[in-house]
Amino acid sequence: MKEIYSEELLWQLAGSSKVVVLTGAGISAEVGIPTFRGPDGLWEGVPPERVATPEAFKRDPQFVWSWYRERRIKMEGISFGPSHKAIAELESLFPDFTLITQNIDGLHKKAGSQNVVELHGNIWFDRCSKCEYKDAFSLELEIPKCKICGNLMRPDVVWFNEQIPQDALNEAIQASVNCQFFIVVGTSAIVQPAASLPIIAKDNGALVLEINPNPTPLTLIADWSLREKSIDILPNLVEMLKSILK
Ligand code: OAD
Repeated sequence: MKEIYSEELLWQLAGSSKVVVLTGAGISAEVGIPTFRGPDGLWEGVPPERVATPEAFKRDPQFVWSWYRERRIKMEGISFGPSHKAIAELESLFPDFTLITQNIDGLHKKAGSQNVVELHGNIWFDRCSKCEYKDAFSLELEIPKCKICGNLMRPDVVWFNEQIPQDALNEAIQASVNCQFFIVVGTSAIVQPAASLPIIAKDNGALVLEINPNPTPLTLIADWSLREKSIDILPNLVEMLKSILK
Protein backbone atom coordinates (compact mmCIF):
# COMPACT_ATOMS: atom_id res chain seq x y z
CA MET A 1 0.00 0.00 0.00
CA LYS A 2 1.27 3.44 -0.93
CA GLU A 3 2.41 5.45 2.13
CA ILE A 4 0.34 8.52 1.55
CA TYR A 5 -0.67 9.60 4.96
CA SER A 6 1.16 9.92 8.19
CA GLU A 7 0.32 7.87 11.25
CA GLU A 8 -0.38 11.13 12.99
CA LEU A 9 -3.06 12.09 10.48
CA LEU A 10 -4.79 8.73 10.93
CA TRP A 11 -4.70 8.82 14.72
CA GLN A 12 -5.82 12.42 14.95
CA LEU A 13 -8.77 11.68 12.67
CA ALA A 14 -9.58 8.44 14.49
CA GLY A 15 -9.54 10.33 17.79
CA SER A 16 -11.94 13.06 16.60
CA SER A 17 -15.62 12.85 17.36
CA LYS A 18 -16.76 15.94 15.42
CA VAL A 19 -15.80 15.78 11.76
CA VAL A 20 -16.71 17.94 8.78
CA VAL A 21 -16.09 17.20 5.11
CA LEU A 22 -16.38 19.94 2.48
CA THR A 23 -16.58 18.76 -1.12
CA GLY A 24 -16.41 20.39 -4.52
CA ALA A 25 -16.60 19.43 -8.16
CA GLY A 26 -13.42 17.30 -8.06
CA ILE A 27 -15.36 14.51 -6.33
CA SER A 28 -17.89 14.31 -9.13
CA ALA A 29 -15.25 14.72 -11.85
CA GLU A 30 -14.41 11.12 -11.01
CA VAL A 31 -17.81 9.98 -12.31
CA GLY A 32 -17.72 12.15 -15.42
CA ILE A 33 -19.29 15.42 -14.34
CA PRO A 34 -17.00 18.23 -15.48
CA THR A 35 -15.50 20.60 -12.90
CA PHE A 36 -16.10 24.34 -13.30
CA ARG A 37 -12.62 25.68 -13.86
CA GLY A 38 -9.57 24.62 -15.84
CA PRO A 39 -9.36 22.86 -19.20
CA ASP A 40 -12.61 21.05 -20.12
CA GLY A 41 -14.30 22.79 -17.19
CA LEU A 42 -17.96 23.75 -17.41
CA TRP A 43 -17.13 27.44 -17.41
CA GLU A 44 -14.48 27.01 -20.14
CA GLY A 45 -15.90 28.97 -23.08
CA VAL A 46 -19.18 29.71 -21.23
CA PRO A 47 -19.00 32.88 -19.19
CA PRO A 48 -20.81 31.97 -15.94
CA GLU A 49 -22.60 35.32 -16.03
CA ARG A 50 -24.38 34.12 -19.21
CA VAL A 51 -26.03 31.18 -17.51
CA ALA A 52 -25.58 31.28 -13.75
CA THR A 53 -26.79 34.65 -12.55
CA PRO A 54 -30.26 36.04 -11.81
CA GLU A 55 -29.49 38.77 -14.36
CA ALA A 56 -28.91 36.16 -17.09
CA PHE A 57 -32.25 34.54 -16.25
CA LYS A 58 -34.01 37.89 -16.37
CA ARG A 59 -32.38 38.73 -19.71
CA ASP A 60 -32.89 35.39 -21.44
CA PRO A 61 -34.72 32.84 -19.27
CA GLN A 62 -35.11 30.37 -22.13
CA PHE A 63 -31.34 30.26 -22.76
CA VAL A 64 -30.60 29.61 -19.07
CA TRP A 65 -33.39 27.01 -18.82
CA SER A 66 -32.11 25.17 -21.90
CA TRP A 67 -28.53 25.17 -20.59
CA TYR A 68 -29.64 23.59 -17.31
CA ARG A 69 -31.97 21.22 -19.13
CA GLU A 70 -29.01 19.94 -21.15
CA ARG A 71 -26.95 19.55 -17.98
CA ARG A 72 -29.75 17.59 -16.35
CA ILE A 73 -30.02 15.28 -19.34
CA LYS A 74 -26.24 14.68 -19.30
CA MET A 75 -26.23 14.06 -15.54
CA GLU A 76 -29.32 11.88 -15.35
CA GLY A 77 -27.57 8.60 -16.07
CA ILE A 78 -24.59 9.26 -13.82
CA SER A 79 -24.25 7.34 -10.59
CA PHE A 80 -22.13 8.09 -7.52
CA GLY A 81 -18.52 6.89 -7.37
CA PRO A 82 -16.14 5.37 -4.80
CA SER A 83 -15.33 8.77 -3.27
CA HIS A 84 -19.02 9.53 -2.64
CA LYS A 85 -19.41 6.06 -1.13
CA ALA A 86 -16.35 6.50 1.08
CA ILE A 87 -17.70 9.79 2.45
CA ALA A 88 -21.03 8.12 3.24
CA GLU A 89 -19.15 5.39 5.10
CA LEU A 90 -17.06 7.96 6.93
CA GLU A 91 -20.28 9.40 8.36
CA SER A 92 -21.02 6.09 10.07
CA LEU A 93 -17.66 6.16 11.88
CA PHE A 94 -18.15 9.41 13.80
CA PRO A 95 -20.84 10.44 16.28
CA ASP A 96 -20.98 13.99 14.91
CA PHE A 97 -20.44 14.28 11.17
CA THR A 98 -21.48 16.97 8.71
CA LEU A 99 -20.96 16.89 4.98
CA ILE A 100 -21.01 20.31 3.35
CA THR A 101 -21.07 20.19 -0.42
CA GLN A 102 -20.89 22.80 -3.13
CA ASN A 103 -22.03 20.21 -5.64
CA ILE A 104 -25.55 20.44 -7.01
CA ASP A 105 -25.69 16.93 -8.47
CA GLY A 106 -27.27 15.24 -5.44
CA LEU A 107 -24.82 12.33 -5.66
CA HIS A 108 -23.77 12.43 -1.99
CA LYS A 109 -27.32 11.72 -0.86
CA LYS A 110 -27.67 9.00 -3.47
CA ALA A 111 -24.49 7.41 -2.08
CA GLY A 112 -26.06 7.31 1.39
CA SER A 113 -24.77 10.46 3.08
CA GLN A 114 -27.40 11.71 5.50
CA ASN A 115 -26.30 14.85 7.27
CA VAL A 116 -25.65 16.87 4.12
CA VAL A 117 -25.67 20.63 3.70
CA GLU A 118 -26.10 21.46 0.01
CA LEU A 119 -24.69 24.97 -0.01
CA HIS A 120 -25.34 25.67 -3.69
CA GLY A 121 -28.70 23.92 -3.99
CA ASN A 122 -29.73 20.84 -5.94
CA ILE A 123 -30.26 20.60 -9.69
CA TRP A 124 -32.95 17.92 -9.24
CA PHE A 125 -35.42 20.50 -7.97
CA ASP A 126 -37.02 23.56 -9.51
CA ARG A 127 -38.27 26.56 -7.63
CA CYS A 128 -40.30 29.60 -8.47
CA SER A 129 -38.28 32.63 -9.55
CA LYS A 130 -40.55 34.83 -7.41
CA CYS A 131 -42.21 32.94 -4.55
CA GLU A 132 -41.13 30.05 -2.31
CA TYR A 133 -42.77 27.25 -4.31
CA LYS A 134 -40.56 24.22 -5.01
CA ASP A 135 -41.15 21.25 -7.26
CA ALA A 136 -39.34 18.24 -8.69
CA PHE A 137 -37.24 19.14 -11.72
CA SER A 138 -38.75 19.32 -15.18
CA LEU A 139 -37.20 18.45 -18.53
CA GLU A 140 -39.86 20.32 -20.50
CA LEU A 141 -38.47 22.46 -23.30
CA GLU A 142 -40.76 25.26 -22.29
CA ILE A 143 -40.13 26.78 -18.87
CA PRO A 144 -42.84 25.61 -16.46
CA LYS A 145 -44.90 28.18 -14.57
CA CYS A 146 -45.27 28.28 -10.80
CA LYS A 147 -48.42 26.49 -9.62
CA ILE A 148 -48.93 29.13 -6.94
CA CYS A 149 -48.16 32.50 -8.53
CA GLY A 150 -47.75 31.75 -12.23
CA ASN A 151 -44.22 33.12 -12.54
CA LEU A 152 -41.40 31.22 -14.25
CA MET A 153 -39.81 28.25 -12.50
CA ARG A 154 -36.00 27.95 -12.41
CA PRO A 155 -33.47 25.36 -11.20
CA ASP A 156 -33.14 25.30 -7.40
CA VAL A 157 -29.45 26.16 -7.47
CA VAL A 158 -27.57 29.15 -6.11
CA TRP A 159 -26.28 31.43 -8.82
CA PHE A 160 -23.52 34.04 -8.72
CA ASN A 161 -24.74 37.26 -7.09
CA GLU A 162 -27.23 35.26 -5.02
CA GLN A 163 -27.21 34.55 -1.30
CA ILE A 164 -26.77 31.03 -0.01
CA PRO A 165 -29.96 30.00 1.85
CA GLN A 166 -29.51 31.27 5.40
CA ASP A 167 -30.32 27.93 7.09
CA ALA A 168 -27.75 26.05 5.03
CA LEU A 169 -25.10 28.69 5.67
CA ASN A 170 -25.78 28.76 9.42
CA GLU A 171 -25.56 25.00 9.61
CA ALA A 172 -22.29 24.97 7.67
CA ILE A 173 -20.71 27.67 9.84
CA GLN A 174 -21.90 26.04 13.05
CA ALA A 175 -20.46 22.66 12.05
CA SER A 176 -17.16 24.29 11.02
CA VAL A 177 -16.84 26.20 14.30
CA ASN A 178 -17.53 23.08 16.36
CA CYS A 179 -15.55 20.41 14.55
CA GLN A 180 -12.22 18.92 15.54
CA PHE A 181 -11.22 17.64 12.12
CA PHE A 182 -12.06 19.25 8.76
CA ILE A 183 -11.47 17.45 5.45
CA VAL A 184 -11.64 19.57 2.30
CA VAL A 185 -11.68 17.66 -0.94
CA GLY A 186 -12.01 18.43 -4.64
CA THR A 187 -12.55 22.17 -4.50
CA SER A 188 -10.47 25.02 -5.92
CA ALA A 189 -11.50 26.91 -2.75
CA ILE A 190 -12.02 30.24 -4.44
CA VAL A 191 -15.78 30.62 -4.20
CA GLN A 192 -17.05 32.20 -1.01
CA PRO A 193 -18.37 31.55 1.56
CA ALA A 194 -17.48 27.85 1.14
CA ALA A 195 -13.77 28.63 0.86
CA SER A 196 -13.78 30.28 4.29
CA LEU A 197 -15.26 27.31 6.14
CA PRO A 198 -11.95 25.43 6.59
CA ILE A 199 -10.38 28.68 7.82
CA ILE A 200 -13.19 29.11 10.35
CA ALA A 201 -12.60 25.53 11.49
CA LYS A 202 -8.85 26.06 11.77
CA ASP A 203 -9.32 29.32 13.70
CA ASN A 204 -11.47 27.38 16.14
CA GLY A 205 -8.85 24.71 16.74
CA ALA A 206 -9.63 22.04 14.14
CA LEU A 207 -7.05 20.16 12.14
CA VAL A 208 -7.43 20.54 8.36
CA LEU A 209 -6.73 17.89 5.74
CA GLU A 210 -6.84 18.86 2.07
CA ILE A 211 -7.12 16.31 -0.73
CA ASN A 212 -6.61 17.75 -4.20
CA PRO A 213 -4.22 16.95 -7.06
CA ASN A 214 -3.59 20.70 -7.34
CA PRO A 215 -2.64 23.28 -4.74
CA THR A 216 -5.31 25.77 -3.65
CA PRO A 217 -5.40 28.86 -1.45
CA LEU A 218 -6.21 26.49 1.44
CA THR A 219 -3.01 24.51 1.01
CA LEU A 220 -1.17 27.08 3.11
CA ILE A 221 -3.39 26.58 6.14
CA ALA A 222 -3.89 22.82 5.83
CA ASP A 223 -2.18 20.60 8.39
CA TRP A 224 -1.90 17.95 5.70
CA SER A 225 -2.27 18.55 1.99
CA LEU A 226 -2.39 15.36 -0.06
CA ARG A 227 -1.69 16.07 -3.71
CA GLU A 228 -3.80 13.15 -4.91
CA LYS A 229 -7.22 12.37 -6.37
CA SER A 230 -9.88 11.69 -3.78
CA ILE A 231 -10.52 8.24 -5.26
CA ASP A 232 -6.90 7.35 -4.44
CA ILE A 233 -7.24 8.46 -0.83
CA LEU A 234 -10.75 8.32 0.60
CA PRO A 235 -11.76 4.66 0.13
CA ASN A 236 -8.41 3.59 1.51
CA LEU A 237 -8.54 6.05 4.38
CA VAL A 238 -11.97 4.74 5.40
CA GLU A 239 -10.72 1.15 5.43
CA MET A 240 -7.76 2.12 7.62
CA LEU A 241 -9.99 4.05 10.00
CA LYS A 242 -12.38 1.14 10.26
CA SER A 243 -9.54 -1.13 11.32
CA ILE A 244 -8.43 1.38 13.96
CA LEU A 245 -11.92 2.14 15.28
CA LYS A 246 -13.39 -1.38 15.36
P1 OAD B 1 -13.71 23.93 -9.40
O1 OAD B 1 -13.94 23.49 -10.79
O2 OAD B 1 -13.42 25.36 -9.15
O3 OAD B 1 -12.51 23.10 -8.75
C1 OAD B 1 -12.44 21.70 -8.82
C2 OAD B 1 -11.24 21.26 -8.00
O4 OAD B 1 -11.25 19.86 -7.95
C3 OAD B 1 -9.88 21.71 -8.54
O5 OAD B 1 -9.12 22.30 -7.49
C4 OAD B 1 -9.24 20.40 -9.00
O6 OAD B 1 -7.84 20.40 -8.81
C5 OAD B 1 -9.91 19.40 -8.07
N1 OAD B 1 -9.98 18.03 -8.55
C6 OAD B 1 -10.12 17.58 -9.82
N2 OAD B 1 -10.20 16.24 -9.85
C7 OAD B 1 -10.10 15.83 -8.56
C8 OAD B 1 -10.12 14.55 -7.94
N3 OAD B 1 -10.26 13.42 -8.64
N4 OAD B 1 -9.98 14.48 -6.59
C9 OAD B 1 -9.84 15.62 -5.87
N5 OAD B 1 -9.82 16.86 -6.41
C10 OAD B 1 -9.95 16.96 -7.73
O7 OAD B 1 -14.99 23.43 -8.55
P2 OAD B 1 -15.48 23.91 -7.12
O8 OAD B 1 -14.35 24.31 -6.25
O9 OAD B 1 -16.41 22.87 -6.64
O10 OAD B 1 -20.80 27.42 -7.73
O11 OAD B 1 -16.31 25.19 -7.51
C11 OAD B 1 -16.96 25.91 -6.52
C12 OAD B 1 -18.17 26.58 -7.07
O12 OAD B 1 -17.81 27.35 -8.22
C13 OAD B 1 -19.22 25.64 -7.62
O13 OAD B 1 -20.05 25.08 -6.62
C14 OAD B 1 -20.01 26.52 -8.53
C15 OAD B 1 -18.87 27.22 -9.21
O14 OAD B 1 -19.12 28.48 -9.67
C16 OAD B 1 -21.95 27.88 -8.20
O15 OAD B 1 -22.39 27.58 -9.28
C17 OAD B 1 -22.66 28.81 -7.25
